[in-house]
Amino acid sequence: MTGTEYSLGHDDPEVRRLLLQGRLYAEHTDRALRLAGIAPGMRVLDVGCGPGDVSLAAARVVGPTGSVTGVDATPGILDVAERRAAEHDLPNVEFRSENIAELSADRPYDAVAGRLILMHLPDPATTVEHLAGLVRTGGVVTFQEFELTASRTAPPMPLIDRIGDLTRQSFRALGVSTEMGTSLHRVFRRAGLADPRMNLSGPLGAATAPELTEFVADLWRTVLPIAQRLGLDVDGLTDPDAIPERMRAEAGPDTVVVLPPLISAWSTVRGTSLRA
Ligand SMILES: C[S@@+](CC[C@H](N)C(=O)[O-])C[C@H]1O[C@@H](n2cnc3c(N)ncnc32)[C@H](O)[C@@H]1O
Repeated sequence: MTGTEYSLGHDDPEVRRLLLQGRLYAEHTDRALRLAGIAPGMRVLDVGCGPGDVSLAAARVVGPTGSVTGVDATPGILDVAERRAAEHDLPNVEFRSENIAELSADRPYDAVAGRLILMHLPDPATTVEHLAGLVRTGGVVTFQEFELTASRTAPPMPLIDRIGDLTRQSFRALGVSTEMGTSLHRVFRRAGLADPRMNLSGPLGAATAPELTEFVADLWRTVLPIAQRLGLDVDGLTDPDAIPERMRAEAGPDTVVVLPPLISAWSTVRGTSLRA
């Protein structure tokens, strides 16, 4: 999901998936930003901002005396982010189309944040080291990433187990990390940052709840063509629209689905190059 895989608008299935995901994880993201020390008046950089969930959440936290810059390599997705900032009446956030690897700053930021971005990058530690160089001494570096191996249902649901397995296999084949959450500790240290503090949080609930069945169906809509291209066995799973009904049929009244938790990590920046 880098570069140009989005077409424009809220109606694009991948954008829709990101927006539903954003709603489900909103409170977890907001709490993670506050835990990391994002506070009123700060100047924050959100890297790989996509449709802008983290940027908008950060803009609310920093308030009118602070500002947020969201950066993404996919211009189409930034149109969605800009529309949402206007809808939510948040004039203190701006979006820029740029590659993270080439980002520079005229003056240091107070914080750099990112969600579900490092999992897609080939060398996250080098990226984090580069981004930490854009933050002032005493500022904050914080990332939130999925631990895809930690999603489950209780009791087990064969349908969800299979979709989970195929999703993890597809991600790994594409070079997308399925354990980026727990890898954050290593990534921060390799980036030259202090041992990060960490937190784990995520949505869970009845396996029949509409937003959870839709989340699984949306995820499968994205992954199915990839799994097919990879030649994985998707027999009996070629209709993502049928997933919510199949989940309702398979789940008992007390079956709980645990969506992939978000693990956040944060460190305070010690002095270096750009630093004030
Ligand atoms: C899975 S989405 C996450 C979006 C958002 N952070 C969120 O949590 O909803 C990953 C985003 O990173 C962007 N991205 C990936 N590689 C990038 C790069 N090298 N430079 C800038 N953006 C990048 C993609 O365009 C995509 O919008």
